[in-house]
Amino acid sequence: MDRPKKRDTLRAVSSMSSLTANVEENGSKGIRAVNSLCSIAELNDKDLLALLLDRPRLKLERNKSYDEKSFGDLSLYDGRSGRNTPIFSIRDSFDIHPLVTEAWEALRRSQVYFRGQPVGTIAAYDHASEEVLNYDQVFVRDFVPSALAFLMNGEPDIVKNFLLKTIQIQGQDKKIDKFKLGDGAMPASFKVLHNPIKKTDTIVADFGESAIGRVAPVDSGFWWIILLRAYTKSTGDHSLAERPECQKGMRLILSLCLSEGFDTFPTLLCADGCSMVDRRMGVYGYPIEIQALFFMALRSALSMLKHDAEGKEFMDKIVKRLHAMSFHMRSYFWLDFQQLNDIYRYKTEEYSHTAVNKFNVIPDSIPDWLFDFMPLRGGYFVGNVSPARMDFRWFALGNCIAILSSLATPEQSMAIMDLIEARWEELVGEMPLKICYPAMESHEWRIVTGCDPKNTRWSYHNGGSWPVLLWLLTAASIKTGRPQIARRAIDLAEARLLKDGWPEYYDGKSGRFIGKQARKFQTWSIAGYLVAKMMMDDPTHVGMISMEEEKPMKPVLNRSHSWT
Ligand code: GLC
Repeated sequence: MDRPKKRDTLRAVSSMSSLTANVEENGSKGIRAVNSLCSIAELNDKDLLALLLDRPRLKLERNKSYDEKSFGDLSLYDGRSGRNTPIFSIRDSFDIHPLVTEAWEALRRSQVYFRGQPVGTIAAYDHASEEVLNYDQVFVRDFVPSALAFLMNGEPDIVKNFLLKTIQIQGQDKKIDKFKLGDGAMPASFKVLHNPIKKTDTIVADFGESAIGRVAPVDSGFWWIILLRAYTKSTGDHSLAERPECQKGMRLILSLCLSEGFDTFPTLLCADGCSMVDRRMGVYGYPIEIQALFFMALRSALSMLKHDAEGKEFMDKIVKRLHAMSFHMRSYFWLDFQQLNDIYRYKTEEYSHTAVNKFNVIPDSIPDWLFDFMPLRGGYFVGNVSPARMDFRWFALGNCIAILSSLATPEQSMAIMDLIEARWEELVGEMPLKICYPAMESHEWRIVTGCDPKNTRWSYHNGGSWPVLLWLLTAASIKTGRPQIARRAIDLAEARLLKDGWPEYYDGKSGRFIGKQARKFQTWSIAGYLVAKMMMDDPTHVGMISMEEEKPMKPVLNRSHSWT
C-alpha cells in the first residue's frame, strides 16, 4: 500500500490537541526511524503514535476539516451515512488479526431483530450455559461497545434503530409492585419476543422490576445520551438528535437527575447496583462510575439540546451543575500521594467553613493496602465520597470515563495513566482490566456484599477482570497520547480471548482464570475488543466518545454595577 510520508500525515492532524505535543515534537525533530520488523513492545509512545497516525490515510484525506478541529471533539462526519458498504472491510486490510475476523462473526451472530430491523445485540450468545437468566436480552450498557463498533465500521442503522426503540420504551408505564417509576427512567434491558404463528414481534423491557435485586439502572439514561452524541459525531446526521422524541427523551432523563432535593453535594445519590456493578457491592452513595457518566451525559446533552424555550431551561441547569460537579469531583474525589498524606494527618470534628476535613473522614478508616499501593507519581478518583466515608477502591470504568469526558483535568488524566502503568500487575495483570481494586474478603465481604457467592474475592464485580473495559482503556490511552499502554493491554487480551471463548470476566488476583460463572461469547467482550482494535487502527475514532476540556465553564455572574 502506498503510504503517505509521516510528516504529511502528521501535519494533517497537527491540531489534534492531545496529540499535538507529540506530533509537533516529532515533526520538528524528525521521527526516529521505526523498523517495521521490530516488536511493537519495543516502540515508545511517540513512535507508536506516529505509526498509528500513519495508518488511516484514506480517512484523513477524506475529512478535510480535520486540521480545523480539536481531537477530542473531532467530528468523523464524511457523509458516510447511508453508505451500504462498510468502511472497514476485512478483505481490504492487509494486517487484520485473525481474532478480528472471528470477533466480527460473533458480533453479527448476537444481533437482535425487531420486525426485520436490527435493534441491538444480546448480552451473551452462550448456548453451553444451563442458565440463561437475562443474558438473552439487549442491555443498554452492553450495547454501547457494539454500537461503537458498528459506527466505526460505517453501519449506523442498527444504532439509530436501537436509540429510537429504547426511547420509545422509555414512554411505557413503569411500575414496580405498586410504585410508579419516574418518566425519564430508561430500561436496563429489553427482549424481543417472536411469535412464529402470528408472525408478530413484541418487546418486553426490564426497568429493574425483574432484575436480580430489583436494581435501578441509573446508567442506562446516561449511556443513551452518550450514544446519541457518538451517533451524531460519527455520521454527521443531526436530524436524529433533533427529532422531538429524542429531545423529549433527553429532557426526561435530565429532569430525573437535575431535580432539586435535600442534597448538599452536586453529585448524584444512588442505591447499590445502579450501574455495571449491578449487585450489592458497597457502591451506594455517590459512586464514581455514575458521577463520571452523569458528567459526560450532561456535556453530551448540552451539545444536542435545541435552543428552544424548553431546551434552554435545561441548558442553564446543566451549565451550573457541570461547574459545581467538576469543582467537587476534582477536589474531593481526587487522591494522589500528597492528598493521601493530607488525609492521613487530618483532624476530625472540625466545624465551620474553615474546616479542612470537610466530610469528617477519620484517618483510621484509610485501608492498609492503600499506603503501599499509592505510587509517588500517579493518582485516581476514589470510588465514593460522602460524610465520614471515603471508599478508597479503584474503579476502572469511572476513571476512564473521567478522562474521556474531561471531568479529569489534563494533569489528572496523565496521573491516572501513570497509576495504571505503575500498578500494572494489580490493575491489568494477565487480563485487562480489573473492574475494581482491591477485592473484599472475609468479614468485609460478608458485611458489604451480604455474603454474595458470585462476588467472592477476586471474582466478578469483586476484583474480577473484565475484557470489555479494554475499549475504555484504549480510548483513554489514545486521548492522553499514550497508546503504548493500550497496545500492551490488547496484546494480553489477544493471547487469551478467542481461545477462552470470549468470557464475560476472569477471576483471580491477576485475572488468570476464566470466571467461575462467566458466560462465554459475551457480546461486550467481543465488541470491546473490536472497538479497541479499530481505535488503534484509526485514532480519530476516539472523537466519538471523547470530549475536550471546556475552557470557561463558569456560569455567568451578574455583578452589581456598584462594584465597578
Ligand atoms: C451482569 C453485569 C452487568 C451486565 C449484565 C449483562 O449483570 O454485571 O453489568 O450489563 O451482566 O451482561
